Amino acid sequence: MPPELSIEMESRPTEAPVSDAFVFFGATGDLAYKKIYPALHNMVRHGTLTAPIIGVAKSGWTIEQLRDRARNSIQKFGGGINDAAFARLIELLQYLDGDYADPETFSSLRKRLGDSKRPVHYLAIPPSLFGAVTKALQQSGCATGARIIVEKPFGRDLASAKALNAALRTVFPESQIFRIDHYLGKEAVENLVFFRFANTFLEPIWNRNYVDSVQITMAEDFGVAGRGRFYDETGAIRDVVQNHLLQVVALLAMEPPTSMYPESIRDELVKVFRMIPPIKPARLIRGQFRGYRNEQGVARDSTVETYAAVRFEVDSWRWSGVPFLIRAGKCLKTTATEVWVKLKRPPLARISAEQNHFRFRLGPDVSLAAGVRVKRPGAKMVPMAIEMTAVDHALGDEVEAYERLLTDAMRGDTLLFVREDAVELSWMVVQHLLGNVARVHVYEPGSWGPGEADTLAADVGGWHDPL
Ligand code: BG6
Repeated sequence: MPPELSIEMESRPTEAPVSDAFVFFGATGDLAYKKIYPALHNMVRHGTLTAPIIGVAKSGWTIEQLRDRARNSIQKFGGGINDAAFARLIELLQYLDGDYADPETFSSLRKRLGDSKRPVHYLAIPPSLFGAVTKALQQSGCATGARIIVEKPFGRDLASAKALNAALRTVFPESQIFRIDHYLGKEAVENLVFFRFANTFLEPIWNRNYVDSVQITMAEDFGVAGRGRFYDETGAIRDVVQNHLLQVVALLAMEPPTSMYPESIRDELVKVFRMIPPIKPARLIRGQFRGYRNEQGVARDSTVETYAAVRFEVDSWRWSGVPFLIRAGKCLKTTATEVWVKLKRPPLARISAEQNHFRFRLGPDVSLAAGVRVKRPGAKMVPMAIEMTAVDHALGDEVEAYERLLTDAMRGDTLLFVREDAVELSWMVVQHLLGNVARVHVYEPGSWGPGEADTLAADVGGWHDPL
């Protein structure tokens, strides 16, 4: 492995000072409940968070109510309370109740920040509020020396993403903006890129000469889980394809980073997005699970897709002509996110009817395996397919994505965050797929989605269904 890569990925040293206050807007909201409190609890437990934590929301709550919320959140989503860490978290946690449209909220926040020189502000709120909140942070002096973390969805299309970027950039330099795509904080996703560049045997074959096709399936066996209103304005392409799954494509397809300058990896990711021509609607199959229109918050005549399958190319020297396929859907047969890289067939077809592959399982459990053929024991020369497994474990001993990302943001390390140009270029890739550009096919819950999607994968041996 090149030494620069190990530095980038393991320690990623940064000269930047660590943030000395953690402010999060949306402290009583759903994201805080499901992800942020468990992450903060773990950060306190691991000693990476010792600064004051200020939760901001307009709920009319007391600090006791917020503490109860934090306790319930950690019990339910954080794997249980660690008494010492929780006690310390409660000491650090403050609550500021206020309207985001009221300048008074921000002058109170400035007072609460005291002599903090480098606060981090986390906007766990709808993107429609980003512009007003960043401006108010600036006007109140809260943005001075500060960092900002924003959540997906980062815009609804290219134009709105550009507008959001412009709003953030009038107040914060790019180096202090941390756009979260939690897939980049996943251990399995990082391992995918690590595996690629840490093993000599892979690089010579990781290209159009040996790779037949690449497919990514993100299947979820549940529906919109109480998020009907949000989902009906979003759909599968905006929800997971433009962001999580295109990021995975970029990590699979990127060139090796060539030096240890801090932006080298993010530069390579951006190059991949530049080389994917906007996907055409003819290469898109949309689906909607039967019963979606009866979900709370969903329009009775909704044509929003809960399933999307696309086919495209990465038009580079390395990948030209290799089909890339993505499919993602709710209410499918199982919950699994898997990358399947299929290699070309060796010439002796008689003993190698099936092709080699690499399989990267990114969730809910993690595995990394190579599919190979060996001889079945016995008198005849008959092949047997096996998988050589390099990694195979349930989640648990890994640092949770949100903990990793929030810790990095507090340290000023931008590596695992989506840069301004990456976000805009990935919107360009899906730009022609937004809205009712293709028919929506109804599919049965518990299936693998609409059968029409099979046509996209017909010449690459069909879709590989994760177990
Ligand atoms: C979120 C989407 O970004 O990612 C959800 O909004 C989706 O719809 C979720 O279920 C999947 O994340 P994970 O980490 O469970 O694969």
